[in-house]
Formats: sequence, structure tokens, C-alpha cells
Amino acid sequence: MTPSGGVTVRVPAKVNVQLAVGAARPDGFHDLANVFLAVSLYDEVTATPADELTITCEGPDADKVPLDRTNLAARAAELLAARHGISPDVHLHIAKDIPVAGGMAGGSADGAGALLACDALWGLNSSRADLLEICAELGSDVPFSLVGGAALGTGRGEKLTELPVGGAFHWVFAVADGGLSTPTVFAEFDRLAEGAEIPDPTASPALLDALRTGDTTALAAALTNDLQPAALSLRPSLAATLTAGTDAGALATLVSGSGPTTAFLAKDAESAEAVAAALIASGTCRTARVATSPAPGAIVLPSA
Ligand code: C5P
Repeated sequence: MTPSGGVTVRVPAKVNVQLAVGAARPDGFHDLANVFLAVSLYDEVTATPADELTITCEGPDADKVPLDRTNLAARAAELLAARHGISPDVHLHIAKDIPVAGGMAGGSADGAGALLACDALWGLNSSRADLLEICAELGSDVPFSLVGGAALGTGRGEKLTELPVGGAFHWVFAVADGGLSTPTVFAEFDRLAEGAEIPDPTASPALLDALRTGDTTALAAALTNDLQPAALSLRPSLAATLTAGTDAGALATLVSGSGPTTAFLAKDAESAEAVAAALIASGTCRTARVATSPAPGAIVLPSA
């Protein structure tokens, strides 16, 4: 519930249904064809007036969330305030449900959430374009956290084209013990790709069709993640989680983004529940969560 005088924003997690990675660029980033799909796991960020910028966090993984200025929520408040020549005096409270450092854009969600919450709290009425520009400055995945739904991200993932989605998809996410650092996974991708010809990343027409028509079987056949070999190389135990999901009847399995969360596409809601229960029973993950997609982007929740 939003405390009086505060603004709460709800922001979704994402799974990358296609993550095509190009060669490393001179700036160290990689060009991507990154098909984002927002899923129904959410963080909530509440902004309330305060004497200075402070952050608190609640949730099962709250102890793993930095509460200093490295938190993307803090950086979002600072960037927005600097643009308007005001001081970022705000308390940000994060109710965290998205796995931390899990490849589901949890940190990016908090950045987008804080940005929208502060914009509303401070009555700035920033344009969508201004907010998206700040999001891109915060990180490659942050613009998508604001937009939600489904989108193709090009460049380093920040240039978005929204995509139509013709139906609901049912997912299970297996949460691993400990996170993986995104730069480390990209560095491992570079190491594994050394000497190989890396094609320019392009979105798969079959995948975009599957999204547009809401065809789960076709989407299952089209899921790809070029970072998956790198994530498995750094965390070989994820292979057993993927196998457990396949054995439990998932239509397709995938490492989510840079991992270590693994994603399982299920036929329907009932099958998703069965796959989640089997994954938990397998002992190959810390927990498993069901979610549906597409989910809406960041939204201000009505106040209490
Ligand atoms: O943009 P963001 O801060 O989320 O990126 C974190 C790190 O992930 C970058 O510093 C870079 O090492 C890696 N990255 C990349 N190519 C991308 C996006 C991220 O190499 N397109």
C-alpha cells in the first residue's frame, strides 16, 4: 500500500525470448537483437519526501540489494533531479519480488520504477521521450522496464520497437542460488567466441510471428539466447535445472538473459504449476515461480 504523500510504481521483470549477440564494440558493449517480453513478477518502488536520498528494501533477497548510490533507483532519482536543477531528497522503498542479479532486469526495474515515482512525486510531468532517454543512460535494459509488453531492443538493447503479442504465455522461472554478473557473462561470451566469425544480430521472423499470433508451440521452437553457453560455462549446475524442467514437461527451456535464472515455457497455466512443483522437488534450484506474459510496463499504483 502507498503511504500517504508517497507514490508507488509497479514494474515487471523480463525474459529475453531471443537474445542475439554481436561482436564486442569499441565501447565494450555488444550490439544486440534483443526480444524482451515482460512477465508478471513485479517490484514496487515507493517514493516519499525525505531530507536526503535514502533507500530501503524488503523481500526475501533484500540483503543482496545495494542501498547506496550504486542502486539504479538512486541513480534514477539523481539523474532526474539534476535535469530539473532540484535536489534528489527522496526516500525510495523497494518491495523486491524479482530475483536479484538473476538475468530478469530486477535492478533495471527499480531504476525505471524510481524514475516514474520521483517524476510523479515531484510533479515534473516529464515526457515519455525524456524518461526513456534517462532510462537509456541508466542501463541497456532500463527503457524496456518502463515500456513493458514486448519489444525488440537494438543497439546495446536500449533502442526499442514495441511488438504486438497475440496471446498469453505461461512461464516458470527457476531461481538459482547466487547471481551472475552481466559484464562477466558478456566477457565469457567474448572468450568462447574468440576467433569465430560473429554474425550481425537480427531478430528471428519466426519468433516475431509466434509472438504476434500468440502461438506457444511456435514460440517454444524459436527461443534462443546467445548468452546461454557463457552462463552455463560459468555456472555448469544450470544444465541440471534445464534438464529437470524438460523432464517435467516444459515445452522449451532457456537461460533468462545473462542468468542464472532459468526460464521454462509451459503449454498452459496448469502445466506451469506442475513444472514449478517438479523443479522445486528436483533440488536443482532455490525456488521456482510461475508467471504469465505479456505484462504491462511501469505504472503508478492508485494511492490508498
Ligand atoms: O547497460 P548495462 O549497464 O546494463 O550493462 C552492464 C554491462 O553488460 C556492460 O558494462 C557490458 O559489460 C555488458 N553489456 C554488453 N552489451 C550490451 C549490454 C550490456 O556488453 N548490449
